Amino acid sequence: MKGMMFTEFLDMVEARHGLAMKDALIEQAALPNAGAYTSVGSYDHRELLRLAAALSERTGVPMPALMAEYADAVFELFLRRYRPMIERATSCFDFLGRIESYIHVEVRKLYPDAEFPSFSYPQHDTQVLVMDYRSPRPMSVFAEGLIRATIRHYGEPIDLAVEDQSDGRGTAARFTMTRRPA
Ligand code: HEM
Repeated sequence: MKGMMFTEFLDMVEARHGLAMKDALIEQAALPNAGAYTSVGSYDHRELLRLAAALSERTGVPMPALMAEYADAVFELFLRRYRPMIERATSCFDFLGRIESYIHVEVRKLYPDAEFPSFSYPQHDTQVLVMDYRSPRPMSVFAEGLIRATIRHYGEPIDLAVEDQSDGRGTAARFTMTRRPA
């Protein structure tokens, strides 16, 4: 996983909980590089999950809520860095429908060593969007957070239902979005 995903996490921790908490997490997660991530480097995604688990333990905030907060921060980062990619899309469903075939494809050109999940779209029309998440990494809760951040960004009246498809491992999930009648 790219270093920028780690620096975003650690910046969030420092801003919300202070430098002492950040240092404590780095120590508790026993990171090989003592938390010195560079944005261009690549690191084991399990280090991020260890940092998040340590934060959850110390703050009492459950992992899903914590990952949702992190996903919000990451979406803001994407807006700062990749706004033109996001603005090409004409609606929330249009944007989410482009993650697999355009967004992650373009980002892979910038970072050939980045690791992305795969999404398939069993249904995509004006009223309903169904996205199936599959990844070797257990990050469906993060995907859910990014989807919720996207829905908020577009401000459209859309409901989200989540179905885990990996016996709780977090490696496969179905996201069903339904447009509420105006
Ligand atoms: C402009 C918007 C987006 C950009 C630029 C972007 C870019 C990225 C980048 C750089 C990574 C990290 C890859 C790595 O570090 O190796 C990533 C991972 C990921 N992205 Fe996106 N992404 C965007 C939107 C989304 C959205 C809306 C979703 C949710 C549906 C999503 C789902 C994920 C997930 C779940 C991962 C974690 C890796 C995994 O689960 O295997 N992305 N993305």
